Amino acid sequence: MKTTTTAMRSLSVAVLLLVAAAASASAAKDRCHSGDKAALLAIKAALGNPYHFASWTPDNPCCDWYDVDCDATTGRVVGLAVFQDANLTGTIPDAVAGLVHLQNLMLHHLPGISGPIPPAIGRLSNLSFLTISWTGVSGPVPSFLGTLTRLNQLDLSFNALTGAVPASLAALPSLYSIDISRNRLTGSLPPLLFSRLDKAQQEAYLRLSHNNLTGSVPPEFSAVAFAQVDLSRNAFAGDASGLFGRAKPVQQMDLSRNAFSFNLSAVELPEQLNSLDLSHNAIYGGIPAQVVNLTNLQLFNVSYNRLCGAVPTGGNMASFDAYSYQHNRCLCGPPLADPCK
Ligand SMILES: *[C@@H]1O[C@H](CO)[C@@H](O)[C@H](O)[C@H]1NC(C)=O
Ligand SMILES: *[C@@H]1O[C@H](CO)[C@@H](O)[C@H](O)[C@H]1NC(C)=O
Ligand SMILES: *[C@@H]1O[C@H](CO)[C@@H](O)[C@H](O)[C@H]1NC(C)=O
Ligand SMILES: *[C@@H]1O[C@H](CO)[C@@H](O)[C@H](O)[C@H]1NC(C)=O
Ligand SMILES: *[C@@H]1O[C@H](CO)[C@@H](O)[C@H](O)[C@H]1NC(C)=O
Ligand SMILES: *[C@@H]1O[C@H](CO)[C@@H](O)[C@H](O)[C@H]1NC(C)=O
Repeated sequence: MKTTTTAMRSLSVAVLLLVAAAASASAAKDRCHSGDKAALLAIKAALGNPYHFASWTPDNPCCDWYDVDCDATTGRVVGLAVFQDANLTGTIPDAVAGLVHLQNLMLHHLPGISGPIPPAIGRLSNLSFLTISWTGVSGPVPSFLGTLTRLNQLDLSFNALTGAVPASLAALPSLYSIDISRNRLTGSLPPLLFSRLDKAQQEAYLRLSHNNLTGSVPPEFSAVAFAQVDLSRNAFAGDASGLFGRAKPVQQMDLSRNAFSFNLSAVELPEQLNSLDLSHNAIYGGIPAQVVNLTNLQLFNVSYNRLCGAVPTGGNMASFDAYSYQHNRCLCGPPLADPCK
């Protein structure tokens, strides 16, 4: 009897707590923090009060505004995602710095947004996801991004950014995904990029294709647990064999259209590879026989290199035609027309 009463009492306490939590969540949502509201209205004004922000009016709670996301408990603005509008023009407003609780900022497919990435972004100390992609933003990838200690993912792809990948990004302990492909970057890779990640816990993603990056793959990169690495269409050179290794978690590797030069016979191919493009480099040696054991391999391209020897057969090698192997120094055997001597 006593047990039942206790159970009922704790049940009703739980119900009360739930009701209270729901009420405070909706109260928080209705409240709309005045600082957040002021920052959002300043962003709207800085962009010239465009139609895109028509729902951003002081008579609605700012958590209900288009593109705005609030934390259900605190009612603070934690997300701002503005995308797909060619009519928005101007520079990224400094007023974003007023969204002090922001965790996710996305500016995507806004070709009329131009100018540099402003220092205001560096003041968003809780930012975990930063996307500025498919915009007209130019200037450097700012060094101050290295102060965003909670950053997990950085996507600055498809802009007009110049200069180098800043070494300051290497200081970030939980930044595991960097995409700055399709810009005009120059310079070499910071050797310590991803070095603070716990490689037993977190795989890394690096996409830098279509830039003008130079230098070689830093030896330090052999210790990074890359799941994906795309360095294609740059001006990298030298040895990239440190990215390989049988137990590495790499699934997609694209090193195509660079000037990499190393002995492919000497590498162990990562067992989980499903896509490997090494085309248009100066890679020599032969194709490791172990390739036939890569059961997930769907794309394999070693064309336009300096490879020699027999193309391995067996496994799922039958799914790759001569175009995967063309223009090498002396590769031979099927599917190539040249028989091995
Ligand atoms: C952009 O502006 C044009 C012309 O004013 C308008 O027709 C169109 O709906 C606008 N697009 C968006 C996404 O607001
Ligand atoms: C940043 O996030 C942490 C943990 O999520 C939170 O405790 C802190 O209040 C946040 N700070 C700001 C300024 O939002
Ligand atoms: C790379 O540099 C070359 C020569 O300086 C230039 O023509 C080309 O447009 C650049 N490519 C990119 C993606 O910046
Ligand atoms: C490439 O490495 C293999 C195996 O380690 C070795 O036998 C071969 O001589 C090397 N080829 C060249 C061109 O260095
Ligand atoms: C491929 O796998 C088979 C079966 O597990 C193994 O016997 C063979 O040694 C492997 N070949 C290479 C080149 O790793
Ligand atoms: C491999 O790359 C070459 C050069 O870019 C291309 O011509 C060929 O179509 C590719 N082959 C396959 C199978 O993707």
